[in-house]
Amino acid sequence: MFITSTLPVVAAALALALPTTAAPQPLTGRAESDLSLQAQLRLAETTTERYDLIPNDEDFVFDFSTSDSPVATSQNWPALIAADARASFSIGQLEACSMAFLHLHPRATELFSLSAGRILSHMVPQAGVLDSEDMQRVISVELTPGKVTVYPAGSFHTQVNPDCEPANFTAAFNSEEFAAGIVAPQVFSLPDDVISRTFGQSIAGEEIEKVRDAIPKEIAIKVDECLAKCGKEKR
Ligand SMILES: *[C@@H]1O[C@H](CO)[C@@H](O)[C@H](O)[C@H]1NC(C)=O
Repeated sequence: MFITSTLPVVAAALALALPTTAAPQPLTGRAESDLSLQAQLRLAETTTERYDLIPNDEDFVFDFSTSDSPVATSQNWPALIAADARASFSIGQLEACSMAFLHLHPRATELFSLSAGRILSHMVPQAGVLDSEDMQRVISVELTPGKVTVYPAGSFHTQVNPDCEPANFTAAFNSEEFAAGIVAPQVFSLPDDVISRTFGQSIAGEEIEKVRDAIPKEIAIKVDECLAKCGKEKR
């Protein structure tokens, strides 16, 4: 009795959710639309429509060997939006004797693993996560091939390749547009008085400007001791 009386309600709800006769009009073809493929995919009303917007099977493959970018995100791999993946991926190398600048991903937790080389990883979790001496906990681990570590969304982290060979990594992110915050330059983009107070007045005026100018612009900062050990030149 209960079942039969609710069936029409369920059917009506399904009909509303999956209209068959009054299907939404497909978006105009890509060639006729001013919108980017990504924008069209986001506006598409159904998954079916999204797949229609990516008719070539090859577009479901991202080839890092030919890509300029070491990251595959919704911006350069629209299939992620079509597939509703809510994830992105990176394959890259951290050069010998290099440290990735201290950064965070505002929207994504990262799973980071190595396929070649060695990396020393440091991660600072949220405030209030303390070590046995009640100091801010810093999770420092050594990674070698076959190991994976996790950087929670928003955690500060950095990786050091202390060896003379490049380290090959893969990283997965649970956002299709993970993005990054770069700690040092972003902190030092604040007004001088804010920086001065932040650092307990230990730095002021020209010194702030000096630090600002000294912050490396490149993603991979050279590790001088390692360069010396490996007989490499700083480029
Ligand atoms: C590391 O990556 C580079 C660039 O993709 C590749 O040429 C090299 O063979 C990789 N090294 C190892 C040991 O897998």
